[in-house]
Amino acid sequence: MIETSRRVARLPTYAVAAIAERKRQLIAQGVDVIDLGAGDADISPPEIAVEALHRAAQQRDASRYAFQLGSVEFREAVARYMQRRFNVQVDPMTEVLPLIGSKDGLAHLPFAVLDPGDVCVVPEPGYPAYLGGAILAGADVEIVPLRPEADFLVELEEIPPERLARAKLVFLNYPNNPTAAIAPHAYLERTIAACRRHGIVLAFDNAYAELTFDGYRAPSILEFSGARDVALEFHSLSKSFGMTGWRLGWAVGNQRLIEGLSKVKSYVDTGPFLAVQQAGAAVIDRSEELLEPVREGFRVRRDSLVTALHEVGISCAPPPATMYLWVPVPEGITSGELASALLEREGLVILAGSVFGGGGEGFVRLSFIVEPERLREAAVRMSRVLDGFTATGRRA
Ligand SMILES: Cc1ncc(COP(=O)(O)O)c(C=O)c1O
Repeated sequence: MIETSRRVARLPTYAVAAIAERKRQLIAQGVDVIDLGAGDADISPPEIAVEALHRAAQQRDASRYAFQLGSVEFREAVARYMQRRFNVQVDPMTEVLPLIGSKDGLAHLPFAVLDPGDVCVVPEPGYPAYLGGAILAGADVEIVPLRPEADFLVELEEIPPERLARAKLVFLNYPNNPTAAIAPHAYLERTIAACRRHGIVLAFDNAYAELTFDGYRAPSILEFSGARDVALEFHSLSKSFGMTGWRLGWAVGNQRLIEGLSKVKSYVDTGPFLAVQQAGAAVIDRSEELLEPVREGFRVRRDSLVTALHEVGISCAPPPATMYLWVPVPEGITSGELASALLEREGLVILAGSVFGGGGEGFVRLSFIVEPERLREAAVRMSRVLDGFTATGRRA
């Protein structure tokens, strides 16, 4: 009998992928599905990206292997962006690495920094690639629950000392998926200091750096003194430019970590399509003007969903960043029960907090990724399902 590895057996099912199949079946049955599940908005990529891709795809060299070097034009555009946006100067050739989406770098980083048995600190709820990468690398995972009463922050010094001593890598993500929490500067400073003190690599996932509202500006970890000694930061074109399927992001930061990640990746992939990297360079160079309408569009959607939920008796504060509302589930039902009732009874896809790990129980995540009218309809469907739980005697 053929068996897969113990590491694969330890991996939880990747929930978002499983939901896609159920959604397909419901649509085939004629159900009017509203999908507020994955962080994949219905916005179009910038026209300049499509045009640049079209042009680049016609160049014969663009069809060759990219290798980890990738497009120098892309690396340089990233360095210019880091300077303009964060006032952080980086060497495009040694401190930047093109990625096949930031997930590529996040999931492969553990192979570059962990040996079997090393402790990897993983926040829960959190983006599942952290846990997956750590498990596949044979790490001993230290789950840290993100709690509302602690502002969804991971405090390294609260990890038991014998575990902290063995920790080699921590994943942090602010603005945060799924909680939409942001990190105060003082928090980032003390976390960098703790990583330096304990020799821990800080993987800072900044995929939502540009999806911020109401004047909030998300920092780069590299703005803080000492970060470059321990940190690698991850950026993505997916969320802010409607380019999830293009698969383009980058890692930036500590040179040895860039080298290590690049070495790992050189054995598993040959870099993002060069034409996509060239299109990415065009987008990044004009990020400020392109992002303004995107942010405004998400702000309108955020406010529409918050207001619509409020009108049906579900209250939550408008988040300062991301495309997510992290909504508490009424007592007496689990997040999985609520998500599955919404899907099966109302054709509404949301994510149970538990798909982000046990620490996500008690909440559901709603992505404000469709037009306001559909978001209002989603709120009505949600209230019908919650009323149903109350009517059947489950406390709501
Ligand atoms: C927190 C976070 N990081 C990284 C990613 C990966 O994005 P991509 O691989 O498309 O760049 C996502 C996608 O949902 C995310 O939510």
